[in-house]
Amino acid sequence: MMGWTDRHCRYLHRLLSRRTLLYTEMLTTGALIHGNAAQHLQFNPEEHPVALQLGGSEPSDLARCAVMGQERGYDEINLNCGCPSERVLRGAFGACLMNEAPLVADCVKAMVDAVDIPVTVKHRIGIDKIESYDFAADFVGTVAEAGCRVFIVHARNAWLKGLSPKENREIPPLRYDIVYRLKREFPHLTIAINGGVRTSDEIAEHLKHVDGVMVGREAYHNPWLMIDWDERFYGEAPGVQDREAVEAAMVAYMERAHAADGAPWYSVASHMLGLRNGLRGARKWRQVWSDHRLKPQPPRAVWALAQTHGVRDADDLAQATAA
Ligand SMILES: Cc1cc2nc3c(=O)[nH]c(=O)nc-3n(C[C@H](O)[C@H](O)[C@H](O)COP(=O)(O)O)c2cc1C
Repeated sequence: MMGWTDRHCRYLHRLLSRRTLLYTEMLTTGALIHGNAAQHLQFNPEEHPVALQLGGSEPSDLARCAVMGQERGYDEINLNCGCPSERVLRGAFGACLMNEAPLVADCVKAMVDAVDIPVTVKHRIGIDKIESYDFAADFVGTVAEAGCRVFIVHARNAWLKGLSPKENREIPPLRYDIVYRLKREFPHLTIAINGGVRTSDEIAEHLKHVDGVMVGREAYHNPWLMIDWDERFYGEAPGVQDREAVEAAMVAYMERAHAADGAPWYSVASHMLGLRNGLRGARKWRQVWSDHRLKPQPPRAVWALAQTHGVRDADDLAQATAA
């Protein structure tokens, strides 16, 4: 998720589940080919398995970027055919590609020919007012013929005109039945469902119908949700016992990231503000970790304050910093 699932966020999520597949933010082919690819592609070795999501619609560019991703060590290349933002549409990729299944097939084929890791596609069930199952099925069928075996389906249409990207994640109705039917009619493909999933029980329910579930916003806002996934869905013990252990590991990570490349602690901490959601004191804890006046402090000092939920102490510390 752009602006959210950067390498720091993924490090946090990996602490919470050792097995769940993590995805990067969408990276455009333009950014990788003309920008600082090394920086864009940077990730922590702990993040595996991690998929690189690409945005683009030019087969040779996508193949080139897929190779970069493979060489950098990513475990999967995913093509975004679901993003409805205007910037993306101007670049003629993202959700509007659902209107161009043969082009997506060419893109997939170019990438499949270029790399050994899986090439997967994330898409919507339809665009604008096209509500028919056949539209989604034709898209999946065409792209599968080009060598894509895994489809992650956001179970709502993208309305390309009149809705903001945020509205496009909320207003078009969710239609899980379409995704379930894709799995029934393409049993040899791996079909994962996405959209509106908020609890582990909901994940378990979807898994009766499809092969996988992608969780976006809820995993970001309430990352502790992930803590039972290893045990429940992979039959493995969780890697951490409690939120304190996660917070301690994140502070150590903040120190390492800063020493390695100057990443400020707050660019890491901003992704963990939901960690204590639902617990007493969560708001005050969050206030400390997001208090901009504490930016000059080392993360361990901020952590100490957050542990006591010490808003008043935070004021004192900030004043001491300013003095
Ligand atoms: C801030 C934000 C950024 C997003 N960026 C991407 C992106 O880069 N690539 C993508 O495929 N989907 C992106 N999405 C969409 C999510 O992956 C997901 O499809 C959508 O939020 C519905 O799933 P959810 O209800 O579990 O959040 C983004 C969503 C949000 C909220």
